[in-house]
Amino acid sequence: MKRKTLKWLGFLAGVGLVLWLWQRDRATGGVGRRLKYATIRLSRSARLVRGRERATWVHRFYALLAPAYDLLFLKMPGYRQAARDLIERLDVGAHDTVLDVGCGTGLLTLPLAERAGRVVGLDLSPAMLEKLAAKAARRDLTVELRQGSVLELPFADEEFTIVTTAFMLLYLTPAEKQRAMAEIRRALAPSGRLGCLSSLGEIADIFLIREEWEGLLTGAGFTDVQIEERYDVFRLVIARKRDVNDHQGDVL
Ligand SMILES: C[S@@+](CC[C@H](N)C(=O)[O-])C[C@H]1O[C@@H](n2cnc3c(N)ncnc32)[C@H](O)[C@@H]1O
Repeated sequence: MKRKTLKWLGFLAGVGLVLWLWQRDRATGGVGRRLKYATIRLSRSARLVRGRERATWVHRFYALLAPAYDLLFLKMPGYRQAARDLIERLDVGAHDTVLDVGCGTGLLTLPLAERAGRVVGLDLSPAMLEKLAAKAARRDLTVELRQGSVLELPFADEEFTIVTTAFMLLYLTPAEKQRAMAEIRRALAPSGRLGCLSSLGEIADIFLIREEWEGLLTGAGFTDVQIEERYDVFRLVIARKRDVNDHQGDVL
């Protein structure tokens, strides 16, 4: 079967699955809310990839999903707005150099590029990066793209003032999440900010619950952890890299 036909079959199967999950969620309220819950539950397909050899599995998974990704996920009510809310909360400005890890087709990367001085998008999947490159070109936005893993960031220490990530950590095992946060911390400048967009672990267990976020981030050397909820299903997590000055009070 042709590759294009396979992609469309994958897309139609995805839409069918969302609709099926949607009608199962009758108890959860209005159309928008049911659609959001259904799409978030679809993210459980990440389990197919988690814990496997990523260089192969993520490539294959997203080579199939990339053509339909924006239609399946980014159209979900509140998704883009939650991303914009995160950028707003991080107070991104022209002086910032921002790394978006697991950038995908640019949910955060493109609006970041409208505000920051320099934006780099990193992703494991060449198919997702290609799609993002085409979107950036159409909008005349400058974004540097790198293929690579959050587990081994191909960047210098303290290169960025802000690191963001949306819906990427769900692919990592608990030990990998810790390693990812250590890498992100290394790439952040002193007092650099971290902004994460996710969904509520209370709805679908592939996402972290509030206490898990706090434990992960404080354990990895972040402070001022703020956790907020948006539009029924989204979670914004903001933190700051803890640096030596934060401990001065303890020493005195
Ligand atoms: C659900 S998509 C999210 C994309 C985008 N951030 C968004 O919210 O629309 C997850 C992305 O994470 C990427 N990814 C998965 N594991 C990764 C890793 N170890 N390092 C970098 N990117 C990874 C995938 O290739 C995919 O593009």
